[in-house]
Amino acid sequence: MEEEQVFIFDFGSQYTRLIAKAVRELGVRCRVVPAQSSAERIRRSLPRGLVLSGGPESVYEKNAPQLDPAIYDLKIPILAICYGLQRVAADRGGQVVRGRGGEYGLSTLQLAEPDPIFAGLEPQEPVWMSHGDQLKLLPPGFRSLARSAGVPYAAIRSSDGLIYGLQFHPEVAQTPKGKTIFANWLRDICRIKGQRQPGATLEGRIGALRRQLEGRRALMAFSGGVDSASAAALTQRAIGSRLLPVFVDSGLLRQGDRQRAEQVAAHLGLKLAVVEAQERFFAALSGLSDPEDKRKAVGEAFIRAFEAEARRLEEREGPIEILIQGTIYSDVIESAGAPGARRIKSHHNVGGLPEQLGLKIVEPLRDLFKDEVRQLALKLGIPEEIIWEQPFPGPGLAVRILGPVTPERVALLRQADAILRQEIKRAKLDREIWQYFAVLLPGRSVAIRGDGRGYGEIVALRAVSSREGMTADWYPLPHETLTQISSRLTNELDQITRVVYDITAKPPATIEWE
Ligand code: XMP
Repeated sequence: MEEEQVFIFDFGSQYTRLIAKAVRELGVRCRVVPAQSSAERIRRSLPRGLVLSGGPESVYEKNAPQLDPAIYDLKIPILAICYGLQRVAADRGGQVVRGRGGEYGLSTLQLAEPDPIFAGLEPQEPVWMSHGDQLKLLPPGFRSLARSAGVPYAAIRSSDGLIYGLQFHPEVAQTPKGKTIFANWLRDICRIKGQRQPGATLEGRIGALRRQLEGRRALMAFSGGVDSASAAALTQRAIGSRLLPVFVDSGLLRQGDRQRAEQVAAHLGLKLAVVEAQERFFAALSGLSDPEDKRKAVGEAFIRAFEAEARRLEEREGPIEILIQGTIYSDVIESAGAPGARRIKSHHNVGGLPEQLGLKIVEPLRDLFKDEVRQLALKLGIPEEIIWEQPFPGPGLAVRILGPVTPERVALLRQADAILRQEIKRAKLDREIWQYFAVLLPGRSVAIRGDGRGYGEIVALRAVSSREGMTADWYPLPHETLTQISSRLTNELDQITRVVYDITAKPPATIEWE
């Protein structure tokens, strides 16, 4: 059966993934594709609609990203957002210019005439704008459907009704009726009925995975986080004990991480192999201070430890053909979208290992967003504290120790971090703050030791609010919580004599210190 799907042309907007999310939440399949995809390739897949994303460039600049002009001949409905609208306008004979000061933030959409795409909207609606350029001259055959305070062409439509352009962003939460606009476009313009995807139910997913794996043996790196636990639980239900999850203890984990992973594995009935690799990791890190060198060393050590275990398991269990990865949809977009975007799941992405071991990669969560993974995890019986756990970087505490990483410094940071976590939990802020942790700084600071002076370690506290980690703001911990953390750190851990609080947003800072 031909599947109804929509393609999203990625012009590099930070919101592209939100477009995908909005479409998928309406039950419609979609794929994010490079903006330069050829019309020929698109035609073969018969999508029912094309969304053109926003993007950071200006259409009048020399290297501005283009669209294959033959795309317009396909006669597939197009919804062009922000840069997408400007791209269409420039391609079809309109004029785009740099606006005076641009329009950023909340604005009001004023509808000029009723249109099916705006069914259910009031004559005036709040929308989110983020553009420096604007459409000055409509292309021939287009009309304006709405204006805003800043621009006369906040929404446009071609006379055949196939192309819609929106200067605002319907995909962000700050445009409250954005979802309605997408729903109208998918239903009334693309003529998609809206259907839940096959395999969206738990049983459907398990069945599909069972057919895909056909009882073959599968290896996986299990960290105990919500993604790997969900991928493992699904696969276990599909192929039972032919799933061979491996937990690598790098010695760089937080207090309780390993025990928790073991408990979850036991709870899910997984046959977990635990690899003691602490010495291997500390040896690899020895003498390194540069953050990139440290990341590389940890990645390498992980691959070597995992590989050794894989060979051992093959000898014991028989041939292994599959590598299960807990990659989720945002990881897929992250690595396929903007060039140079960092691969976030560096520790799950076990490098050239699949080829070396002759393994085929299967990613059971590849089409799910984080919140969908969490819903699935609930259905799979994964404990709540795992489901709401904050993100933890693959290289572990190594990126939270500035300068050399030694077993002693890791032990100190682990204790400091545990104190911070206990106090945040006690203050009942653990579900409210997106991410919080302690960082051990390089160098020392002067301290009072008995009657004399000494030098002690410095710990920085980081707490941030964020939606997906792309941007973040520092979280204002209550005064008394900060006081309690500071006094516990310096009283319970002799070496620590100074505690500082990080009050920078991302950007310009990152969340991790490294
Ligand atoms: P930054 O520090 O770049 O981090 O603002 C953004 C988010 O990503 C997490 N992070 C990682 N996660 N492997 C991961 O799985 C990594 O190598 C890695 N580095 C950073 C970070 O904790 C934050 O949530």
